[in-house]
Amino acid sequence: WSTSVKISVIGCGYLGAVHAASMAELGHEVVGIDVDQDKVESLSQAKAPFYEPGFEELLGRTLATGRLRFSTDFGDARGSKVHFVCVGTPQKRSEYAADLRFVEGATESLLDVLAPGDLVVGKSTVPVGTAARLADLVSSKVPGAILAWNPEFLREGFAVQDTLEPDRLVYGIPDDVDGETARALLDEVYASIRERGTPQVVTDYATAEMVKTAANSFLATKISFINAMAELCEATGADVKQLADAIGYDDRIGRKFLNAGLGFGGGCLPKDIRAFMARAGELGADQALTFLREVDNINMRRRIRMVDLAREVCDGSLVGKRVAVLGAAFKPDSDDIRDSPALNVAAQLQLQGAVVRVTDPAAVENSRRLWPQLDYAATPEEAAERADAVLVLTEWKQYRELDPAAFGKVVKQKRVLDGRNALDRDAWTAAGWSYRALGRRHG
Ligand code: UDX
Repeated sequence: WSTSVKISVIGCGYLGAVHAASMAELGHEVVGIDVDQDKVESLSQAKAPFYEPGFEELLGRTLATGRLRFSTDFGDARGSKVHFVCVGTPQKRSEYAADLRFVEGATESLLDVLAPGDLVVGKSTVPVGTAARLADLVSSKVPGAILAWNPEFLREGFAVQDTLEPDRLVYGIPDDVDGETARALLDEVYASIRERGTPQVVTDYATAEMVKTAANSFLATKISFINAMAELCEATGADVKQLADAIGYDDRIGRKFLNAGLGFGGGCLPKDIRAFMARAGELGADQALTFLREVDNINMRRRIRMVDLAREVCDGSLVGKRVAVLGAAFKPDSDDIRDSPALNVAAQLQLQGAVVRVTDPAAVENSRRLWPQLDYAATPEEAAERADAVLVLTEWKQYRELDPAAFGKVVKQKRVLDGRNALDRDAWTAAGWSYRALGRRHG
């Protein structure tokens, strides 16, 4: 390994915990700090407080080296050269804007432990302009301390891989000698990632902040684009899956993120596009992002359409119908239910009188906490017992690989609604199921 840097990571949620362990994996000496005692204890015992493939192994491995530890004491950040701020920026309760209280709080707490020459590195997704404001705060309170912005692009389910092998490194730094110091330190931290030839963009704060929100807005737009096409496919009898394949062969378009279905959810895309719109409004540039409102609308309409489709296949009324919902997480390989389209649909079905049973390989516990009024089952078979309709709303591998013939024996009516265009339509119809999907003809 190249030189080892002393690092603190403030905030050990999804982003911070994975970042801390990954930095230790790169050979650095890392302390992860969080106010949540339970989280710190769990991480210290190599137990992941969330579901993420490969993370627990990484955690165990790096804790065993002695290079990684976790603490609730902010004072333990003292002596580190680089301090990563990895706290959340949730949507505010009653408006679109991002709530910056955790980022501001973490930065303020750092002021007590920073020494001149230390580098504070923001990783959280923030409204453009935040970094400049925090940089002023840091340098005014601790002369000689520097701030950089270094957004992360990790996807849940691939968090370890995305952190250790990112597509690119983006540094937002000041345009002066402090900026050079910041760049050199970040280069040292990421030395082994850079050696692999990872592209690097070194820029100003505002651009670095915007890279993240622009990337997420593009991804959300791509998904809503194909979902808008799905609406048209439904109106014309065309097939959105074949349409996506065909346009995706054009390299300029690409097939990724063109999977039509229930649309996007999770802790990032929905809140990030809304916060971006709110920030554009504050900057007097709201017109530039009005299209994102439509992206959001298209996305939310898919959930309504799914409920309508369920009612349609249940002979026009959901009242008293038994509906099995397969999937609660906002996407597979995750136990995250933040803004989950699947749970949202399940709750709507119940409100309309259906008897809903939800199952998920990883997210039942979290779901039960948020939606205790829903009924949960441990397996798809249990959820689908005597069901009038089965809805596949998160495309877990387990559900894609269900045997339609055997599964057909547990239900009352062989009606399947594929909310993610994930099932093999021919196999299900061959087994006697009536197959319906968003943006596709009846099977
Ligand atoms: C996203 C970005 O991908 C990541 O770069 C950023 O750092 C954080 O936000 P994540 O929220 O983990 O990551 O999930 P992602 O895989 O992007 O999926 C987001 C949502 O879009 C999911 O609900 C998924 O089901 C949906 N989606 C994705 C589609 O509906 N269709 C697609 O083709 C792709």
